[in-house]
Amino acid sequence: MAKISAAQWEQFMDELATQEYVVIDNFLDAKELQLLLELFEQRKRQNLFEKAAIGASGNEKIINEIRGDYTLWLNRKTDTLFEAIFLRIDEIKCVLNRLCMLSISDFEFHLAVYPKGSFYQKHYDQFNNRNNRLISVVLYLNENWIQGNGGELRIHKDTGHIDIAPLMNRLVLFRSDVVLHEVLVSNTERNSLTGWMLHQPSILANLY
Ligand code: OGA
Ligand code: MN
Repeated sequence: MAKISAAQWEQFMDELATQEYVVIDNFLDAKELQLLLELFEQRKRQNLFEKAAIGASGNEKIINEIRGDYTLWLNRKTDTLFEAIFLRIDEIKCVLNRLCMLSISDFEFHLAVYPKGSFYQKHYDQFNNRNNRLISVVLYLNENWIQGNGGELRIHKDTGHIDIAPLMNRLVLFRSDVVLHEVLVSNTERNSLTGWMLHQPSILANLY
């Protein structure tokens, strides 16, 4: 999808509003995708990823039984090479504010690597003591993913569950407060760009 039209965005936002999640395939254009994949590989080579923690800052525990991913937080000011990607995230932010009447002022994103055999147990993305995450955003970056590779995003509903394959350039948006979800065991390394749309800057979130 080179560029998402206003009508397409409207349809996606309708879906998000009615089912609390939406899947958007081929989100980045070819150039943006290539850039992101290159930057991702570089950062893996530089060993910049850290074992992911659980809970908001100040309450971090590393619990392997809950999540097994490694993450690298991005900073728009210093990670300037990612600017083309941040511009696309700006686009998501504007659409959410305009069509979903949200008041997103900021976002936080990290690169995530799930090594073979890792997973993330059922959870919500809002922390008890920090509820400023409105919408979760995941862009999957797995070339040639096939059934059996695992690592699907499982969304739990009252009526059952939906499994979403982590396909290359597939974007998933879901409500951070109400969508119970998990990452199923990944049988191969699983890469994504993952983040959250915030209703106030994350630096203020620790204050209440
Ligand atoms: C998370 C998460 C889902 C995914 O990082 O909180 O639930 O599919 N990620 O990577
Ligand atoms: Mn989550």
